[in-house]
Amino acid sequence: MTATEKNVLSPVQVGPYSLPNRLVMAPLTRNRAEAGNVPGKMNVTYYTQRAGAGLIITEASQIAPEGLGYPQTPGIYSSEQVEGWRLVTEAVHSHGGRIFIQLWHVGRISHPDLQPEGALPVAPSAIAPEGEASTYSGPKPYVTPRALEIDEIPGIVELYRSAAQNAIAAGFDGVEIHSANGYLLDQFLQDNANHRQDAYGGSIENRSRLLLEVVEAVTSVWGADRVGVRLSPGGTFNGMNDSNPKALFTYVVNALNRFGLAYLHLVEPRAYEGVAEEKAKLNTAYFRSIFQGTIVSAGGYNRELADAAIARGDADLIAFGRWYISNPDLAERFALNVPLNPYDRSTFYGGDEKGYIDYPTLQLQTAS
Ligand code: FNR
Repeated sequence: MTATEKNVLSPVQVGPYSLPNRLVMAPLTRNRAEAGNVPGKMNVTYYTQRAGAGLIITEASQIAPEGLGYPQTPGIYSSEQVEGWRLVTEAVHSHGGRIFIQLWHVGRISHPDLQPEGALPVAPSAIAPEGEASTYSGPKPYVTPRALEIDEIPGIVELYRSAAQNAIAAGFDGVEIHSANGYLLDQFLQDNANHRQDAYGGSIENRSRLLLEVVEAVTSVWGADRVGVRLSPGGTFNGMNDSNPKALFTYVVNALNRFGLAYLHLVEPRAYEGVAEEKAKLNTAYFRSIFQGTIVSAGGYNRELADAAIARGDADLIAFGRWYISNPDLAERFALNVPLNPYDRSTFYGGDEKGYIDYPTLQLQTAS
């Protein structure tokens, strides 16, 4: 590496923000919100511990009760949730960090047990995903969702708009629209989940329409330079597939160019199991020549791969998921070139402080 070469510790500008490094804390569902899906004290500690990241993206946060798909995930639709998040953003800011909230609607990746009045989850089409939902009483097979009526779609866009407004009230620095990993917006994009025959189904343009309407609504609230969009073009999670993923995601990324977003966040195909050859090619390097803005790349990075991706110019920032779970001071560890704490998968989803806010920092390790 030459002295002038950029790496993950080089500063970078994202929208109006000057970040001290290019490390992003990836959005990570941890299922530790309090009753009412309200962020609590433990969540404040967790995010504050990670304020050394150039940018924190929160765990996916549902925009409405119908957007819930797992126990104890936080929301951003009630006043109690806004207050809970405000304590998180204030603490992160007082430790010098910046934090965007990831806006989430799970669509069919839910279950009547998690829905208001036991209703069916909604989706572009009445197609059940394979596998089991995580309910309060354990795993249960996914049900066939209810296809949204066309006259309900403006209401979905409004849910994103009001969640974006709540995010301002909660003191966030920006928002990320979750259009990855097989949740509602991705279900509209990919044609194995979207069999609609109206203006939101069929052609690639039609399947992209809901995402673009949501981006339009959210950027009108925040200004585009404080809004990111996450896509997983190589994703297979939650049963996603498309008959022509290259054409679909090339169109979507081209269409996103017109907004002037803060960033495009891409998950590398290597992050998923069983990716077909065609999807495997849809990596960050491929989209670099298409997207005319800042790119955050995630999925299976270590320090070496991250530095290489930045030095090659494939990505501007690198998001770390699992390593941020176990290393609250990841930036400092990279700067000092010291070993990382291993992560414990058994405490990823749900539980208490263990595996959440008790991973040691270097300061603690040196003191003990
Ligand atoms: C995730 N991931 C994820 N992605 C997302 O967009 N929203 C989310 O809420 C979550 N939640 C989540 C929880 C846990 C426990 C894991 C491990 C992952 C995916 C995550 O952001 C990232 O893309 C992957 O973890 C791959 O990056 P790493 O872990 O290889 O750095």
